[in-house]
Amino acid sequence: MSRENENIALLPNALKTDILHFRASTSKNAILPLMIAALLNPGETWFDVTPGFSLNDVDAVAALLHTCGARVWRSAQQIRIDASDVSPGVAPVSMARRTRYSLLLLGALVSRTGQAEIPMAGGCDIGRTHDYHTEMLRSLGCHVHETATSISARRDHAAHALIRLPYPSVGATLNAIFASCTAQEIRDGTRITLENCACEPEVDDVVDYLCRIGMVIRRQWRTVCIEPRRAVGKKVVYAPITDRIETGTYALAAAILGIKVITHNAPQGCLDAVISVLHSIDCHVAWHDNDLLVDGRSTDRRCGIDVSTSPYPGFPTDLQPILAVLCLGLNRPSTIVDTVMPHRTQYIEALRALGGHISWNEGTITVHPDPAIDPASWSAVDLQATDLRGGAAAVLRSLQIARPCRIANFDQVRRGYSEFDISVKKMGGEISPW
Ligand code: EPU
Repeated sequence: MSRENENIALLPNALKTDILHFRASTSKNAILPLMIAALLNPGETWFDVTPGFSLNDVDAVAALLHTCGARVWRSAQQIRIDASDVSPGVAPVSMARRTRYSLLLLGALVSRTGQAEIPMAGGCDIGRTHDYHTEMLRSLGCHVHETATSISARRDHAAHALIRLPYPSVGATLNAIFASCTAQEIRDGTRITLENCACEPEVDDVVDYLCRIGMVIRRQWRTVCIEPRRAVGKKVVYAPITDRIETGTYALAAAILGIKVITHNAPQGCLDAVISVLHSIDCHVAWHDNDLLVDGRSTDRRCGIDVSTSPYPGFPTDLQPILAVLCLGLNRPSTIVDTVMPHRTQYIEALRALGGHISWNEGTITVHPDPAIDPASWSAVDLQATDLRGGAAAVLRSLQIARPCRIANFDQVRRGYSEFDISVKKMGGEISPW
């Protein structure tokens, strides 16, 4: 059950062992759009999820699906969605604000019912807009109307057969794929080609699922072709990929805390950019089947690093705040440029409150090495989790310098890290309500 406005206290303790085991959970950024994609299947979809999987954002999307007439059940290791009857119901503002992925209802509902209306979307407050989404829908034959508080779309005219996204946005790519599935051109038997698409593994996962329910979609690098086909409605069981950002967080934690971390059930082959940063500071990294082993005990802290985030397969923006914590523990200045989400900087305040020397100027985050510190002289500090990854970065920073803290809005972190208290406990931190 989601907790809102949650405040926690975090007490870092000495680590009892320097080898930690984690298990990657179902990917947040795969399951959320998959749940919405399930609206395109006029039947039942059973998503197999990892044991104990629980995220605030999943609860938020489930509530949104209910407003559209879909039925959603949770069992220990499954999320079941019956989308036999779907209507373009309008989600209450409070519900849509809980997740940015309410935006995807536009494409999915237009595809299924011909029209959609949503209140302005929520999610992390990291300066995102929705112009690519509305532009795509217009190109795909929709009349789109925006007010200060809502966006509506309805099928109106023929879709273009070739559409180029202005940027490989993950959400806009997914919305475009959803809306393409039943666009006028598709019904006339012509394929729709989308260019400059996002090719994040989570997009591939959604495409795989849509193919399982009967769509014919092919992706080649940044080009996606959607062939004329409709889902007929059948029961589908689908297992989403595991979370590369959660896995990347624990991989970077190995270097931050100077420990060895083994993440089981990790998604192979989609963390190369993170692994290459770890290699550059002499962390030993190895794969054994689906287990990712990162040995941070050998981390070379003498140099700083310079990293730019970029769309997949580049270094992920979601790990940028966690990377900043790693940089704080290096002995020379580092720079980070987030080309994907240049406004993802709110977390910097929390790291500063935890003694971090970080500046941000014209799109470049500069991280200075920690001065010599005496943890014993530090009292608990009050922080705010401004967003999901920023909140996780604050936790890792607190563990890095063994300084207790109290974090307001910790529910932000629960939007994307399943069973995080258990993981933090493994890393020596005790989370308690405050
Ligand atoms: N953008 C626009 N206009 C739009 C859409 C996007 O200018 O209409 C800009 C954004 O402001 C951003 C860039 O394009 O600067 C990329 O945004 P994108 O659309 O790719 O992001 P998203 O689909 O909203 C998903 C993830 C994010 C992740 C980004 C980038 C989910 C639920 N969210 O968001 O995840 O950071 O892709 O990889 O899949 C997170 O997990 O912490 C998180 C924020």
